[in-house]
Amino acid sequence: MTVVKAENVVKDYGLNGNTVHALRGVNLEFQGGEFAAIAGPSGSGKSTFLHLAGCLDTITSGNISIGGSDTARLSKTQLALLRRNSIGFIFQAYNLIPVLTVEENIGFPLTLLGIDRGEIRERVAQALEDVGLEDMAKRRPKEMSGGQQQRVAIARALIKKPALILADEPTANLDSKIGREILELMVALNKKEGTTFIFSTHDSMVMEFARRIVHIRDGMIENDEVKSA
Ligand SMILES: Nc1ncnc2c1ncn2[C@@H]1O[C@H](COP(=O)(O)OP(=O)(O)OP(=O)(O)O)[C@@H](O)[C@H]1O
Ligand SMILES: [Mg+2]
Repeated sequence: MTVVKAENVVKDYGLNGNTVHALRGVNLEFQGGEFAAIAGPSGSGKSTFLHLAGCLDTITSGNISIGGSDTARLSKTQLALLRRNSIGFIFQAYNLIPVLTVEENIGFPLTLLGIDRGEIRERVAQALEDVGLEDMAKRRPKEMSGGQQQRVAIARALIKKPALILADEPTANLDSKIGREILELMVALNKKEGTTFIFSTHDSMVMEFARRIVHIRDGMIENDEVKSA
């Protein structure tokens, strides 16, 4: 099944009366169960693509479908439901809620889904263990390092077991040992739950784990490399 389908996607940003051409006609498809990386130099359009695929921003022209629905045809409410139910985000700015503790931040997506408190507690405990933050459940984001906050964001994205996870440089602030552990956790989730992962990355370790690497440059796809099994 096609999870993300981008057709001739153009994204321009307006900047002080000028136009920045971030994506210049991108055609890309991702199937369910893929473990794929988007690689390219700084400014090439990786984050822009992930934001559009996550329905967090509007496209200038072209089309993006998620799970077969054309996002241009969905209402704001339908888009919000799609994001809440089906997509997990791990972004460069971690978007943690400062007033909530680590465990509250991680459990928040489940609270929104109306899951009962006992189950949330169990799943949060498991997620904390998965990312190695058992001892930090009661801290607030500002009391942690950048890499620790990133792991909270990862746990929060994984906890609702979404069909699609979009991760913008998920290992950027992690040392290589923790980065590897997190990637192994994602591979396990990909195998067990069939979760589709799309990363943006500069990290050779992420590219080593990825089964497909899409190279992007100046807002255009340069090369799409699927590794043989
Ligand atoms: N909100 C914005 N307003 C104006 N220009 C923007 C905005 N966001 C991104 N850009 C520009 O769009 C282009 C693509 O940016 P994007 O963030 O997608 O790159 P990237 O590949 O993720 O880079 P990096 O590896 O540094 O994270 C860049 O030229 C960037 O300066
Ligand atoms: Mg980026």
